[in-house]
Amino acid sequence: MTLLALLLSYLLGSIPNGLWLCRALWHVDLRQHGSHNIGATNAWRTLGKGPGFLVFFLDMLKGLLAVWLGEMLVGTPLVMILCGVLAIVGHSLSLFLRFHGGKGVATGLGVILMLMPKVTVIVFLVWLLLVLATRYVSLGSIVAAALVPVLALVFGYPALYVAFGVLAAALIIVRHRSNITRLLNGTENRISAGHL
Ligand code: G3P
Repeated sequence: MTLLALLLSYLLGSIPNGLWLCRALWHVDLRQHGSHNIGATNAWRTLGKGPGFLVFFLDMLKGLLAVWLGEMLVGTPLVMILCGVLAIVGHSLSLFLRFHGGKGVATGLGVILMLMPKVTVIVFLVWLLLVLATRYVSLGSIVAAALVPVLALVFGYPALYVAFGVLAAALIIVRHRSNITRLLNGTENRISAGHL
């Protein structure tokens, strides 16, 4: 059952919602626009609020469902956490995209919503404030990801959850390498009023 839960979580995470949906519904390949990412931010940037929200919701659902699968099929915190990690890994290294993929932010949010709801509320608020203040979505995502293990510790979650936070943050931050380069040399895309 553990293996099944892990395999299904990776497969679920692998579903490239942004790429498939935007291609099917709007005939747009996100990999050829904006940041070239297949995530909600680039769907929003390229196609607008509606597509952005849809991709965000579906990508978040992948993380949420993966942890739920772990809970239903096995039920131990370790397997639930591993299922969440594999959903994030699947999103970033998708089986359907020859191990390419997105940055794991929305999927990661779904995972932490299931594992640490209180942490999720704070992390989301910090992300929102940072995005509104700087208009850099990537900066909000990087700081929010880094905050997860810190808040897990502050809220007294077991070491396993803190370790998960460190791993998830590392995965997400590494996937933002190109954003970090652009942030440092001042060429990162800002969301403009037109995007809101
Ligand atoms: O969730 C991804 C976001 O942090 C950055 O997206 O398209 O600006 O690289 P993007």
